[in-house]
Amino acid sequence: MSPGNRARPSRAAIVLAAGQGTRMKSRRPKVMHAVAGRPMLGHLLTALKGADVERIVVVAAPGQDEIANYAKTFGAEIAIQDRQLGTGHAAASAREALDHFAGTAIVLYGDNPLLTVETLEKLFALRESGADLALMGFRPEHPGPYGRLILDAKGSLQAIVEAKDATPEQARIDLCNAGGFVLEAKRLFALLARLSNENAQGEYYLTEIVALARAEGAACRVVEVAADEVLGVNSRAELAVVERLCQQRLRAAAMAGGATLADPETVYFSADTILGKDVTIGPNVVFGPGVTVADNVEIRAFCHLEGATIAEGAIIGPFARLRPGTVLHENVHIGNFVETKKAVIGAGAKANHLTYLGDATIGAGANIGAGTITCNYDGFDKFETVVGAGAFIGSNSALVAPVTIGAGAYVGAGSVVTKPVAPDALAVERAKQSEIKDWAANFRARKTAERAAKAAKKE
Ligand code: UD1
Ligand code: MG
Repeated sequence: MSPGNRARPSRAAIVLAAGQGTRMKSRRPKVMHAVAGRPMLGHLLTALKGADVERIVVVAAPGQDEIANYAKTFGAEIAIQDRQLGTGHAAASAREALDHFAGTAIVLYGDNPLLTVETLEKLFALRESGADLALMGFRPEHPGPYGRLILDAKGSLQAIVEAKDATPEQARIDLCNAGGFVLEAKRLFALLARLSNENAQGEYYLTEIVALARAEGAACRVVEVAADEVLGVNSRAELAVVERLCQQRLRAAAMAGGATLADPETVYFSADTILGKDVTIGPNVVFGPGVTVADNVEIRAFCHLEGATIAEGAIIGPFARLRPGTVLHENVHIGNFVETKKAVIGAGAKANHLTYLGDATIGAGANIGAGTITCNYDGFDKFETVVGAGAFIGSNSALVAPVTIGAGAYVGAGSVVTKPVAPDALAVERAKQSEIKDWAANFRARKTAERAAKAAKKE
């Protein structure tokens, strides 16, 4: 069925991301700053996809390739705003991209990462049930810089007044513009063409569109949204506030999904963390991007995980670091002060103490002794270590890659292994132990006599 035949109009989004983000004091575009390990823009694009928005146009500034490349990974189109003349001018930059689009458009600010699919659906629903323009409002704790919503006696939206243009009386209004509204795309572009820049900042304000729509007799309605869903990020301090809110959500979702968090406030997730059921997470655990955890996994205190896939029954930590490319099969044990990177570890294998496994494949049931190091780097290139199933690597061994240890082989403690080891063999690489009979007793007797002689001389 083509979108045109659907019961509801098709949906497009315009996401404004071209602003300079001056208050962030950053070289990086504001919307590319991460919240829970994902760029702010990514949060918004994910929510839009969740609300079945078919076309997404991201408005970027010239040279913001980072935004353009990232947005494209979501199938979004890019419109360029040549000069940053304000949010209204930015929205108008999407006109060409949506020239023949006949459905409903939502306009959003890219610095609003906590917006949920439910709220987007509510806005579309209000528009589809008859409001000409449906806009998100909220009551922030400190309305300060936000645009104020002017309502008439019936509660319909009349206009938005930007903080810098507000009279003292208007500044006292606590219902503010959250930064998102829905209306018919054709009407949007017709109204945008009529914006002026006669205001305190000399900018084309997107928010002027409400007064213009109202003057044409449009019914403009407000959906009030919880403040912690629509806090815009303009500074690093606001980024930290949004990060905290996002972490609270992710912790709640993890617990609702069947994970036990011993001390939730100390566990940090990424937006893309996937947890199975009956996962137990100790205090002070950090999940970087790209972690998938299966059922019945225990992650003990003070672990840092990133880019890792963990199968059922694994036990990790305390104090373990799993870096990108780590794959742990069923029932693997990774203990304290163990670091893994690009390491595939077979079912039931154990590396319980003080170990580095990089560019390594470890067979099922292998035992990696305390202090084992894969020497994977020669200062120029990286090399592979392969340890066969059931092999036993003695403590404090250095496996100099490229090297292969056969299945079932033993490596004696303290060995520096540079040559392949055959399956079921024992490899030992260290000097033979020698012994001098009574050496220690003789040494002690001599030293004690020397001291006694010295003491006698002093007297
Ligand atoms: C804007 C609203 C304000 C609202 C607040 C909510 C206007 C005029 N004001 O203010 O009513 O309460 O958001 O957070 O719209 N951008 C461009 N091109 C530009 C300017 C901005 O693409 O020329 C983009 C920015 O990248 C940003 C978004 O638009 O993602 C909002 O701009 P920002 O400067 O943060 O607006 P606020 O001052 O926060
Ligand atoms: Mg803002």
